[in-house]
Amino acid sequence: MENTQIGLLGFGTVGQGVLDVVNRREGLHVAKALVRHPENYQGKYAVPFTSNPDDILSDPDIDVIVEVMGGLHPAYDLIVAALGQRKSVVTANKAVVARYGPELMSRAREARQNFLFEASVGGGIPVLDALSQHLSTVPIHVVEGVVNGTTNFILDQMDQGMSYHHALERAQALGFAEQDPSADVDGWDSARKLTILAGLAFHAWVDAEEGFVEGIRQIDAEHLTRLRQMGFGMRLVARAERHPGSIGFVVAPTVYPQDHRYLQLHGSQNAIGFLSEAGWTWIEGPGAGGIATATSIVADIQRIRMSVPDRNPLFFSPSYAENVDDAYFIF
Ligand code: NDP
Ligand code: HSE
Repeated sequence: MENTQIGLLGFGTVGQGVLDVVNRREGLHVAKALVRHPENYQGKYAVPFTSNPDDILSDPDIDVIVEVMGGLHPAYDLIVAALGQRKSVVTANKAVVARYGPELMSRAREARQNFLFEASVGGGIPVLDALSQHLSTVPIHVVEGVVNGTTNFILDQMDQGMSYHHALERAQALGFAEQDPSADVDGWDSARKLTILAGLAFHAWVDAEEGFVEGIRQIDAEHLTRLRQMGFGMRLVARAERHPGSIGFVVAPTVYPQDHRYLQLHGSQNAIGFLSEAGWTWIEGPGAGGIATATSIVADIQRIRMSVPDRNPLFFSPSYAENVDDAYFIF
């Protein structure tokens, strides 16, 4: 089998993680990478850099596009263009998946390509795979979890006496925080991930912007100290619950006893639970960071690679976007 040629859109924390993981595997090769300023990267890596997306999207030798640039635009437009060029797309971009997921899955099906996004929720945790292949074989009633590493990190650091702003700067330096960190601290990153989880669990795509979403900006160190003295702690929790004809959708800072599983999560760790007829299933692990996120991206690429030899792609997201109904909200 020939090498699968990968075009990277973005070469920051996650893009560099992808190169690192790909370089340790047989059969995969990063052919080119898109950045805003190629001059900052040229010569430092064994990859050609460009600031022109067409250099990658129109290259007939590139099989798979990996979008890790972030933001809604031009990321969405480039994904549409890549599918139009009959290239499969893998992304870590929860903003794009939450807003345009059903449309992009449908475009991918029409183009007979894959649009895969395991890394968009839970970083390195294979949660969407578990959800779409295994857990959703019986109806799921509740999805909930701690799905944002930046806020875990900030709450812990503030509890140890660090200022909110210093803790946020540390999270940015560690590569966890979004380009616009207000998405993390105001709860929108968690809400977008909850849209994706609920979409796959309930087959109903909830508009995150319509949900009840509250972040941690208003929490101060005194709150956390008082809670700890009483045997409690705080985490930013996302929860969606299905009822007949409606879906409850909430992201909010929530208080738990110190021995609760959420309080055992530190740094970028995430935990996600599903309540189905089979009971609760929990999955946890590294939710952010370059290498962790790259493991999910490379796993998606490997799935696509399995379909490449006969040029007759298999589809690994068959029913994600089917039966997507309008969703109603209860709080
Ligand atoms: P970074 O900010 O570290 O990297 C972004 C990269 O994209 C940079 O190389 C930047 O180029 C390039 N880029 C951005 N906009 C453009 C543009 N308009 N044209 C050309 N190049 C562009 O982001 P991350 O790697 O942290 O995140 C990437 C994506 O992965 C995001 O969607 C994020 O939400 C998601 N994600 C991130 C995780 C993490 O732990 N960091 C975990 C899971 C998902 P330049 O350097 O020249 O500016
Ligand atoms: N900003 C995100 C977080 C990155 O802190 O969890 C992983 O999606």
